[in-house]
Amino acid sequence: MKQNQVIRKLGVITSGGDAPGMNAAIRSVVRTAIYNNLEVVGIMKGFAGILNSQFIELKSHSVSKTISNGGTMLKSSRCPEFKEAKAREIAYKNLKEKEIDALIVIGGDGSFKGASLLQQEFGLPVIGVPGTIDNDIFGTDYTIGFDTAINTAATAIDKIRDTADSHNIVFFVEVMGRHAGFIALHTSIACGAEAVLIPEVETDVKKLSKYLELDRRKEKTSGIVIVAEGAVEGGAAYVAKVVKEHLPNYDTRLTTLGHIQRGGSPTCNDRILASLLGHEAVNALIEGKNGAMVGVINNHLKLTPFEEVFKNKNQISKKMFEVDRILSL
Ligand code: ADP
Ligand code: F6P
Repeated sequence: MKQNQVIRKLGVITSGGDAPGMNAAIRSVVRTAIYNNLEVVGIMKGFAGILNSQFIELKSHSVSKTISNGGTMLKSSRCPEFKEAKAREIAYKNLKEKEIDALIVIGGDGSFKGASLLQQEFGLPVIGVPGTIDNDIFGTDYTIGFDTAINTAATAIDKIRDTADSHNIVFFVEVMGRHAGFIALHTSIACGAEAVLIPEVETDVKKLSKYLELDRRKEKTSGIVIVAEGAVEGGAAYVAKVVKEHLPNYDTRLTTLGHIQRGGSPTCNDRILASLLGHEAVNALIEGKNGAMVGVINNHLKLTPFEEVFKNKNQISKKMFEVDRILSL
């Protein structure tokens, strides 16, 4: 979509689940905007901050020394009221009062839906920047925060492996990913897990028990089974319980990594990705492009219209799944 509106003042928000690298993206938006003589307003707490007019002026020094910080300096929230047209009317009125002519939303596809409605209903130019540890957004090979999350998970799983090995234990490790198995599959390959369960592939716990039994006969001394939280109802706790019923002699343990995967200093890959995407988001708005998300595909920066982002799903690589299975034999 191309609309040539003159933009003087940009708003930027972070919305949905926080992700390491969001600060690097905010920093990049602020510095690129200032370089292009635009003003930047930070909106606190995602869409809730638009509804409450929680605005802060962002200058170049406001984002000094933030690139290495996890979380988001603008804070984030889930704001269910934003699904109501009435709330969006208030939001638009507040943005206009603050003379914000365009919005950059750093978040997941839920956040882009809210932003896209502001564009459709009021003609506000909007660009999305994909920030979520889940890596589940169509239109980019990687989302901001994913690389940090898998490194955090892998570091934790390597440590769990030490105890698993020392005591001959099978560990069931639950990682995040309510609807997507990217974190689970990538950490499985990186840590050499014995098995991985993800939402994209149907889970058969009986089959898993058999597989683990065979594994042990080959004199493996320990086992790590990585379970994406959305792979099966009840998550890793359910899987551990059923496997224990089938293999009562096995010593098993359960670990849920939880929100440690969302925090921490972003990796260099996430800092660089966030810096490039934030920069490109501002450039797109200056060029009159909007209603789209910036992403990286095959090392090239690309804009994908929101409709396409919403219609499609980032696909798990079948090849990676197959390689993981072969390497875990
Ligand atoms: P993410 O952006 O990480 O996918 P959510 O799905 O929780 O996270 O969405 C974040 C916020 O975006 C929601 O709390 C809500 O304010 C807004 N949002 C999500 N879906 C919609 C929608 N269909 N219409 C309007 N706003 C939405
Ligand atoms: O940020 C995405 C995510 O980490 C999902 O994988 C997970 O299901 C969800 O957030 C949990 O978030 P919250 O605790 O905020 O509901």
